[in-house]
Amino acid sequence: MTEAAIHEEDIARLVPRFYDRVRADEVLGPIFNGAIDDWPHHLEKLKAFWSSVMLTSGRYKGQPMVAHLRHGDHMTRENFARWLGLWSQVTEEVLGSQAAAAFQEKARRIAESLQLGVQFHRDR
Ligand code: HEM
Repeated sequence: MTEAAIHEEDIARLVPRFYDRVRADEVLGPIFNGAIDDWPHHLEKLKAFWSSVMLTSGRYKGQPMVAHLRHGDHMTRENFARWLGLWSQVTEEVLGSQAAAAFQEKARRIAESLQLGVQFHRDR
């Protein structure tokens, strides 16, 4: 099976739509709305992040682990599952199923590693 082609434009459509959904979510919405003031900046950062992850563009310069440790209390198993559930919905809506599956797989792995990092930090 050939890989689905992924383009910057896909990411540019996906990211704002995902965070619209996150902000409207009854559990995740208050967390993100309480933590992020400059949404245009956050969206540009997250587009760069996904571009680096999916297209190895190197556009993102940052430390996701450090950013999430700041919000350790919210980084629960339930919230990760909820985040990934919304991610699955929106990737399905915006992308073809092959590309959606590729984005979902990456997110799942990153979520796992963030969760381990946060847990490690908490248990020390
Ligand atoms: C940033 C929450 C899962 C990628 C943030 C911020 C919050 C947040 C509040 C802003 C941090 C700040 O500037 O203070 C959450 C919650 C999650 C979650 C509640 C699930 C429980 C994920 C996952 C990914 C991800 C699974 C990747 C697949 C990012 C990235 C940033 C970010 C790249 C920007 C980090 C930077 O400032 O460079 N997240 N997040 N997050 N998140 Fe998440």
